[in-house]
Amino acid sequence: DVMREVLGLKDLEKKLKHTLHIEDVIVVAGDSDLSPWVKKEMGRACVACMKERLTDKNIVAVTGGTTLAAVAEMMTPDSKQSDVLFVPARGGLGEDVKNQANTICAKMAEKTMGNYRLLHVPDHLSNEAYQSLIEEPTVKEVLQLIKSSSMVIHGIGDAITMAERRKTPEEDMEKIKARYAVAEAFGYYFNQEGEVVHKVKTVGIQLEDLEHVQHVIAVAGGASKAKAIKAYMKQAPHSILITDEGAARALIRE
Ligand code: F6P
Repeated sequence: DVMREVLGLKDLEKKLKHTLHIEDVIVVAGDSDLSPWVKKEMGRACVACMKERLTDKNIVAVTGGTTLAAVAEMMTPDSKQSDVLFVPARGGLGEDVKNQANTICAKMAEKTMGNYRLLHVPDHLSNEAYQSLIEEPTVKEVLQLIKSSSMVIHGIGDAITMAERRKTPEEDMEKIKARYAVAEAFGYYFNQEGEVVHKVKTVGIQLEDLEHVQHVIAVAGGASKAKAIKAYMKQAPHSILITDEGAARALIRE
């Protein structure tokens, strides 16, 4: 903690809380846009934050992305948290296998010696297929578990970066741009006021469900994500933000 004081991270946290109007922020040293290991540092901070908050029986829902993959990488078993069940927060959302919520949730369970359940729902489904799939007993059961999560850990991305990474259909792409989306999380796209302007249809956690989740942790860093973080946090003032110096300094400068 003395080190964090010396590095000015404590001061950054204080300023960031004030700028974003949020209660809980952790800032790690570095900028993950420039140094890949900074994602692991955010991962380490996230794991510590989880351990402080987990009780003896927990369902933890996680999203995909490279940041969450780094969080999984840093997980270690904890003797206190005997009974953790990891579930993916939402469907695949067009990520590479290694960055999918399913993969990350299995990895977290493996690293912590916990349990996991997967959600096998493809991304672009027709209405009929979607309706019948969510009525499947095994899918229904996992969805039920997801809805009763006591903790959600998720990434935040820049809207256009994410829309491109997902190979979003042209029509949706135009909508995302026309409505000035700047942030993305859980398959929702937000404008700079933090209003939802587009949503990828998939099963799992919906934005309104987050209100009922005890602990919500957002992990996102890099100066390139400053706008996205600012917009997203406008509608999530009670979430815990874990970020890096790169994003924090850019946010305070704005
Ligand atoms: O696609 C899953 C997801 O969590 C998105 O909701 C988010 O925008 C993105 O990944 C973050 O990805 P990364 O950590 O690679 O920037």
